[in-house]
Amino acid sequence: MCGIVGYLGEKNPKTVIIDGLKKLEYRGYDSAGVAIIHNGKTKRIRAQGKLKALEEKVLNEDFNGHVGIGHTRWATHGAPNERNAHPHQVGEVSLVHNGIIENYLEIKAELIKEGAVISSDTDSELVAHLIWKELQKNQNLLLSVQIVLKKIIGAFSIVALWEKSPNELVAFKDGPPLIVGLSKDTEKSEFFVVSDVQAALVHTNRFVYLNDREVVHIKDKAVNYYNADGATLKKEITVLNWTADMVEKMGYRHFMLKELYEQPRSVAAAIAPYIDTDTHAVKFNDQGKSFNSETIFKSIERVIFVACGTSFYASMIGKYLIEQICRVPVDTDIASEFRYRRPVIPKNSLVISVSQSGETADTLAAVRLAKEQGAQVLSITNVAQSSIDREADAHMYMNSGVEIGVASTKAFTSTLALLNVLALQISKARGSLSPVSEKEYVQNLLTIPSQIEVVLAYDKYFSEAAKELQKYKGFLYLGRGVNYPIALEGALKLKELAYMHAEGYAAGEMKHGPLALIDESMAIVVVAPSDELLDKTVSNLQEAKARGGKIISIGTGENKALKDMSEYYLSLPGSLWTTNPIIAVVPLQLMAYHLADSLGYDVDQPRNLAKSVTVE
Ligand code: AGP
Repeated sequence: MCGIVGYLGEKNPKTVIIDGLKKLEYRGYDSAGVAIIHNGKTKRIRAQGKLKALEEKVLNEDFNGHVGIGHTRWATHGAPNERNAHPHQVGEVSLVHNGIIENYLEIKAELIKEGAVISSDTDSELVAHLIWKELQKNQNLLLSVQIVLKKIIGAFSIVALWEKSPNELVAFKDGPPLIVGLSKDTEKSEFFVVSDVQAALVHTNRFVYLNDREVVHIKDKAVNYYNADGATLKKEITVLNWTADMVEKMGYRHFMLKELYEQPRSVAAAIAPYIDTDTHAVKFNDQGKSFNSETIFKSIERVIFVACGTSFYASMIGKYLIEQICRVPVDTDIASEFRYRRPVIPKNSLVISVSQSGETADTLAAVRLAKEQGAQVLSITNVAQSSIDREADAHMYMNSGVEIGVASTKAFTSTLALLNVLALQISKARGSLSPVSEKEYVQNLLTIPSQIEVVLAYDKYFSEAAKELQKYKGFLYLGRGVNYPIALEGALKLKELAYMHAEGYAAGEMKHGPLALIDESMAIVVVAPSDELLDKTVSNLQEAKARGGKIISIGTGENKALKDMSEYYLSLPGSLWTTNPIIAVVPLQLMAYHLADSLGYDVDQPRNLAKSVTVE
């Protein structure tokens, strides 16, 4: 969602903030702005559109202060224009905000009654009014923020600046992430307050993660943390091993392309902690403090996955894997549904949350609900120390490195690899995995990185076919069994990147409705590996072809029947059913990427979308 960068230190705040915002632009990008102290006054510059517009506006501006705040906005309240862009300034206070203030109507009515002049359509500006109102009375920024925090309801993180106190920043969080960066050189004092560590990685790797309803007060050379009641908190410093070059394109045209190509490495990195490469056995590598996975896996009677979007589709594959390998019943829930449907979570359930960012608001809420009901939560995430990771009882990490492209790629394949590991661990803990099967599964899993390399060779094929594929008015993606969620994921990639109509269906569902859509302008993309369901899928395709549909198929090896009926046929290397989805999704990612790129769309930052959805 919105990106926040606050800075207090000896460097030029303009450069630090703009460079930081560039690293966050993928989170939200319909307007941007900075407020930096200059000659004891707030100099605020905002611009509609991409960050480039703001960069041009501040290019020749000087700032001689050492404190400032910046923001990239993904509109929630109010249109994406300059007047609604952050920072918002009221009197001597300016602030940036990520999230939603739920009681904004009430606050607005009260402020208007008191004579306040509201100059934007946002809920954020109202918080600046409230702080300024307090500040005029008490001349204390920290105290004012603490008072206001008690009055606002919602999910928000906010950084505030007071021009009269040019060596001070106050920030608070109750929802979307907010992280304090401390100077790498412990002798020096400079401070960052960011919504994502990527904004400050070039300067430091020492971070303090704020929890909900926590306040940070940075003044002169000191930093202090408080809870919502004003009690002092002692916070832990996390030293990250991520480096700044992880957030560069490294010569690729787009982050998404780079991330697509990183998949052999990221899948290998995901499974490495859990595989004994000498014996080809799975290991229980508990990364949870109080969680003994072997014991828990032995006694669980149900698994419930909660996730959103691509992570939800990965969870659907988790259901196939765990039910078939472990014979444990599995439910999959879209997190935004789970949290509101008063779910029944039976005793001995293991709730597994899947989230690349670890910050998705609905998934976080689902995790909290599960914990309230006494379930153990295992989180699968890419970002260690993210909100979901911190709240879970046990942890598995995708180990994919930073994923910048809004369209998730490498996090998806790493998750599928981890779900393979998890299914084997559960089965092993329950004594239902024979050593022979374990070896076969593990050996197969270890071949996946090199098989992805083979599939990446389709890159050229898709870049050539992209223009031709533009002619279709719609795309139906089909799959069966474990490849049904891959059809859903392929359709999602095409929708979010190429803005083309695409639907994912279980191939057997065609006759129950979607067949009516088929004519010559409809492309049917089918994932049909050589498994026991192949013949059934082929007959579904015959029906579609007979009605004029054009077939793009992804099969195993030289499948003549499939090839003959298809406009395009892609051959995947042979693999077990458990891992086939990991390699089958790669051509679908490439297809969406090249189609979108050939249409001239911004692949890394698709319209209307943000990388991590930290509000409902
Ligand atoms: C994927 O391409 C999407 N951008 C989106 O569906 C994403 O997977 C979803 O928002 C969940 O994000 P998370 O994994 O960070 O929780």
